[in-house]
Amino acid sequence: MRFYLIALFSLFSSILFAGGTDDLLYKGPPVFHGPTVTGNFPGTEFLFTVPATGQRPITFSALQLPTGLSVDATTGIIRGVVHEKGTYTATITASNALGKSEEVLKIEIGDKLCLTPAMGWNSWNVFTNTLDEKLVMEIADAMVSSGMRDVGYQYINMDDYWHDSTRATDGSPVANPKKFPHGIKWLSDYVHARGLKLGVYSDAGDKTCGKCFGGFQHEEIDAKVYADWGVDLLKYDFCFVPWKKSEAIARYKKMGEALKGSGRSVVYSICNWGLFKPWEWGPEVGGNYWRTTPDIFDLWRGGIPFMMSTMRIIKRQNKILEYGTPGHWNDPDMLIVGNYGKGKATGRNGMFKGMTDTEYQSHMSLWAIMNAPLLSSCDLRNMNEATKNILLNTEILAINQDEAGKPVQLVNKKNGIWLYKKVLQDGSCAVAVFNTSKKEKKFELTATSLQLNAAGNVRDVWKHSDLGMLNKQILLTVQGHETIVLKISNIQ
Ligand code: GAL
Repeated sequence: MRFYLIALFSLFSSILFAGGTDDLLYKGPPVFHGPTVTGNFPGTEFLFTVPATGQRPITFSALQLPTGLSVDATTGIIRGVVHEKGTYTATITASNALGKSEEVLKIEIGDKLCLTPAMGWNSWNVFTNTLDEKLVMEIADAMVSSGMRDVGYQYINMDDYWHDSTRATDGSPVANPKKFPHGIKWLSDYVHARGLKLGVYSDAGDKTCGKCFGGFQHEEIDAKVYADWGVDLLKYDFCFVPWKKSEAIARYKKMGEALKGSGRSVVYSICNWGLFKPWEWGPEVGGNYWRTTPDIFDLWRGGIPFMMSTMRIIKRQNKILEYGTPGHWNDPDMLIVGNYGKGKATGRNGMFKGMTDTEYQSHMSLWAIMNAPLLSSCDLRNMNEATKNILLNTEILAINQDEAGKPVQLVNKKNGIWLYKKVLQDGSCAVAVFNTSKKEKKFELTATSLQLNAAGNVRDVWKHSDLGMLNKQILLTVQGHETIVLKISNIQ
């Protein structure tokens, strides 16, 4: 629930959104984004940056924060440790020279993390083995300077190849000292100082897919050292593990328990490429999200069994849309928006040419409405305008971060148009009209086609423009491979 305190504000925001670029968001009164709920374990470090845009400086304050937390007035970063379990509702205020706004932030101190899909970045698709400290620092800085932090991106996830060649003699994990001269604790301090969180990567086998040391039979010591390092997320892969369901469950559970006992709130990302249906057992092994398919590659269609195109992933995803609840999400792999075939992994060094901006926009639309983690894998230091517009569209992000976390439904597939609907917390619904064909198509949107009992106001989320009431049909023109995303509110 968000309250806007000054009358001017709504006028301002309609001017800002009306067909303008999102750049304007950074020049107006404060507007909140991102989740309205966040979870943490009791007695562990808490860090949450209130995502807000608007002309800086913005001053933040908070009422009814649980004992142990405080908000930094200039950055909006909330830190501390809460010992008492409970659901706390804090009121956050943000004000600047142009106005003031308030939002209610629910803080769940208990056994749940990742109550809305994780948003952040991952090193793998573009950088693979060139990951190092300097890159992580530059990406953290870019996440701030690009405005991504202000719209809710949070995690900087280091994937494979942060490791030294062996563990220490006592078995503890060690980072490559050449790549990480200051060590991971120092790096996590750097990331945390900016209100962001740090992720690492390991594997349920004794080696990672890149043949660095894996976590098998080192679960406790790894979880403990990760916690000492200040790590906030672990992605746990499946190379060098016998392909058996019982093995997968046992190994993921072992690490899940180790993380829970580590004394830190560490989000757990299961990466076994959808083998043995992790959507059925992911929650019980402590997973917050689980990969549903092999790796994404930077191509629209085609691919081979272990190289998935975007379309192949979407088709697979269509079969398991009903899985996922707050804290436990399907993960159809990272976002490749803005990679344009340049990723070392996803572009296969020039083998794939990448996708068009329209296709990247569809990729983002569907990941958002399907409640997927939104982990960008492009080079955040060098994003073009099209990439920024796709990754930073706050109305799209709001659909993904909706507090209710209800699963999307595939309502209809007709004439190459796939129609998706997700009911949101406030009773409105998000709709994606996805043109799977190369050719432009017309689509007649009606309340009946959406299985709605009544009409509502229709807003084009990508264009930030209102299309009127759905009491009669609205004719949409959808470009080849385009997805039009709509929000239908005040349904009555
Ligand atoms: C794959 C995984 C990728 C990446 C890679 C690292 O198994 O699916 O996302 O983590 O390993 O080697």
